[in-house]
Amino acid sequence: MRLGKYLAHAGIASRRGSEDVIRDGRVSVNGEIVLDPARGVSGEEDIRVDGSKLKGAESRVVYVLNKPVGIVSTASDPQGRRTVVDLVPDTGRLYPVGRLDSDSSGLLLLTNDGELANILTHPRYGVPKTYRAKVGGPALGANALRTLSEGVELNDGITLPAHVSKLGAGLIEIQIREGRNHQVRRMCEAVGHPVLQLERIAIGPLQLGRLKSGGHRRLHAGEVQELRDSARQD
Ligand code: URA
Repeated sequence: MRLGKYLAHAGIASRRGSEDVIRDGRVSVNGEIVLDPARGVSGEEDIRVDGSKLKGAESRVVYVLNKPVGIVSTASDPQGRRTVVDLVPDTGRLYPVGRLDSDSSGLLLLTNDGELANILTHPRYGVPKTYRAKVGGPALGANALRTLSEGVELNDGITLPAHVSKLGAGLIEIQIREGRNHQVRRMCEAVGHPVLQLERIAIGPLQLGRLKSGGHRRLHAGEVQELRDSARQD
């Protein structure tokens, strides 16, 4: 792997930021300063940034969790409520990747990889998040579905185009590439269909699948790479 990419994966900075760190002469490989971000490394080398040895890839972990309703998705809660981090026994420090509302359920990632978390949550990378929403209000009409997919005027601006499909009476699937606060709830409310239940079923290519409520599993390297690859590259 190229050294620049390796540093980005290690959470040093974005791909471009990591290349700058290398060109600035701050990175050594086996004791020798390397200035070329394209230099190939296997990960077996002693790679240091500003003299500090990088943790190996094996110490970075990503878990997928099926968050139950009623659990907050912060790393710690000032009111002492149970958080998603309590659901994943791991000796290291883990952080939720983005948030789900307490009354939402479904796919949430927990990781100690800050760079991956940034790729998956920053709107610049446009990683799609897919939700299944049970909504109230009158029968879902073509107008509401069109507005949801073309853009909804919210108090923080119009939403980007979304993929929306009706799955049944009062049940929609919606895929968005932004991650504003309470976005799906606000979008549905704005078109006259308040959300009654909200579940996230996918982030990029990663599906919630059959993971039971409250259950978790560690992602394998291939799944993590697919998540990275789902980021927009422009
Ligand atoms: N949009 C919402 O409104 N709530 C969530 O939990 C996630 C997306």
